[in-house]
Amino acid sequence: MSKVMIINGSPRKNFNTAKLLKEAAKGAEDVGAETEIVNLYDLSYKGCMSCLVCKRKGIEQHGLCFYKDALTPVLEKCLNADAVIIGSPVYHSYPTGMCRSFMERFMFPAHTYMLDKEHGGLKRVLDRTLPTAMIFTMNATEEQFKQHHYDVVLGDNEMSLRAVFGYCETLYAFDTFQYSDYAKYDCDLFDAEHKAKMRDEQFPKDLKKAYELGKKLATMNR
Ligand SMILES: Cc1cc2nc3c(=O)[nH]c(=O)nc-3n(C[C@H](O)[C@H](O)[C@H](O)COP(=O)(O)O)c2cc1C
Repeated sequence: MSKVMIINGSPRKNFNTAKLLKEAAKGAEDVGAETEIVNLYDLSYKGCMSCLVCKRKGIEQHGLCFYKDALTPVLEKCLNADAVIIGSPVYHSYPTGMCRSFMERFMFPAHTYMLDKEHGGLKRVLDRTLPTAMIFTMNATEEQFKQHHYDVVLGDNEMSLRAVFGYCETLYAFDTFQYSDYAKYDCDLFDAEHKAKMRDEQFPKDLKKAYELGKKLATMNR
């Protein structure tokens, strides 16, 4: 049975990002995969400490971060999984800090500084492709996403994951519903009716895409 790790980089466990991730998990399960959802904000951990042990000559295990904290078992499971799906809200144009800290620890040990003289580029640590995907949710509309160059900034995460693990794709959910009750907040930047419409009409389509993404990633290595 294949195993898909689902990483929630949002502090909210039942809002936009989490809902899409749960749908991706459902998709993976419906094609026979086992899934595990990890809420990063439940864990106490650091980003890469630059100890560089993962780059030392003669180490026994490549690809796994040597710094030990609550993230260690999660990183181990991700490295041994058949696919990894990482979700994050956009915070000030970037993935959340917790998500980036996870990604530093996940990617750096698997990213070598050794030249692959035979094939060009850098040597890969894993002898297989580990399919990865990112799910980003944001207030920005698709137009604002382009205007603010989120495609470049957020797309860099996809590029890095692809370079290290061999495959990555991204699902973007735009113009998400942020507050349970817009009337309770100072936020006249947003039209509550429009946001409710997006929640009721667009978000279900995004959920479907997330479901299909889960199905696809879970079967990629079969
Ligand atoms: C601290 C913070 C910063 C945010 N910055 C942005 C931003 O730069 N661009 C954007 O489009 N949305 C931004 N948002 C909105 C969230 O990305 C959006 O509501 C997202 O769907 C929330 O995900 P969640 O429901 O999983 O928590 C921000 C929200 C917070 C709390």
